[in-house]
Amino acid sequence: MRRIAVLTSGGDSPGMNPFVRAVVRRALGYNMEIFGIEHGYQGLCDGNVIEMNARSVGGIIDRAGTILETARSEEFMTREGRRKALRTLNEHGIEGLVVLGGDGSLRGAMSLHEAGVKVIGAPGTIDNDMYGTEMTIGVDTALNVALNAIDMIRATASSHQRAFLIEVMGRHCGYLALMAGIASGAEMICIPEYPFELEDVARTLDEAYIRGKAHCIIVVAEGAPYNAHAIEQYLREHEDELGFEVRSTILGHIQRGGKPTAFERILATRMGCAAVDNLYQGNTGVMVGIQGHDIITTPIPDVVSHKKELDLSLYELARTLENPSTLLQQP
Ligand code: F6P
Repeated sequence: MRRIAVLTSGGDSPGMNPFVRAVVRRALGYNMEIFGIEHGYQGLCDGNVIEMNARSVGGIIDRAGTILETARSEEFMTREGRRKALRTLNEHGIEGLVVLGGDGSLRGAMSLHEAGVKVIGAPGTIDNDMYGTEMTIGVDTALNVALNAIDMIRATASSHQRAFLIEVMGRHCGYLALMAGIASGAEMICIPEYPFELEDVARTLDEAYIRGKAHCIIVVAEGAPYNAHAIEQYLREHEDELGFEVRSTILGHIQRGGKPTAFERILATRMGCAAVDNLYQGNTGVMVGIQGHDIITTPIPDVVSHKKELDLSLYELARTLENPSTLLQQP
């Protein structure tokens, strides 16, 4: 294979730049010509192709975002859009494509694979919701950003005897919230995978107050049955009975803009190299992922047809530490 390309797609995630850097330099190491597609699949439809060299990826290993830019392309979802994308690849003689992105991006990769393009996928999303990998590129940095923010909020919460609801991203997946909640020692973690009622949140505040806590931190996943605003509204209606003043903070897109952590850079570098190695070896239609310490591959159809399950034993673990008496209540 002489000529390959790389694109980043969907919501950006920290680690995309180190990934692109690794892909470009690994490809050059194999004496391949390497191209970048700008603006994800939309750029593929529009023919936004640029040739890359070792210098085009210099000084980006520590930068969030993606120098190739990204998009969620509606045009590529259409038959006509995909025809345009195939035409771009043919016009430039591109024989293999590396796609970094989330679930939707991998679906796009599957459609190109089915159309005969040699494609290798890689998981890039802060949600960590993709089957076929224990960690996605972006989640470790997003988690650390969320954690730093929660630590800062706890300081002001304590000064004012307040309860804070802190909403983190993650779309339909509670991974970020669960891990941020464990790592910050939150009093409660609200996630889509574990049902709760507004009364449960109120009870948590009440119990924390009675235990003598100066603050109460509740981490809420954006995909939870009630978001932070809805919970705040309910709690404010019952503020007199709770002992804490209630505030909420939505962390939002700052979680996508953190400087990639060391873990992230190393993961992205390993996955980027593995993606090119797979193309070089003639493989196609697989996504690179990490399992334990090993970089593995999973067929893309398996990736997009399976839901990654959240390890709920970690949720139970967090509960026993939120309020140690829950451990005594277990059978
Ligand atoms: O999938 C990544 C993600 O950041 C989700 O956590 C969030 O729900 C969504 O993207 C936000 O999308 P947008 O950037 O389009 O607002």
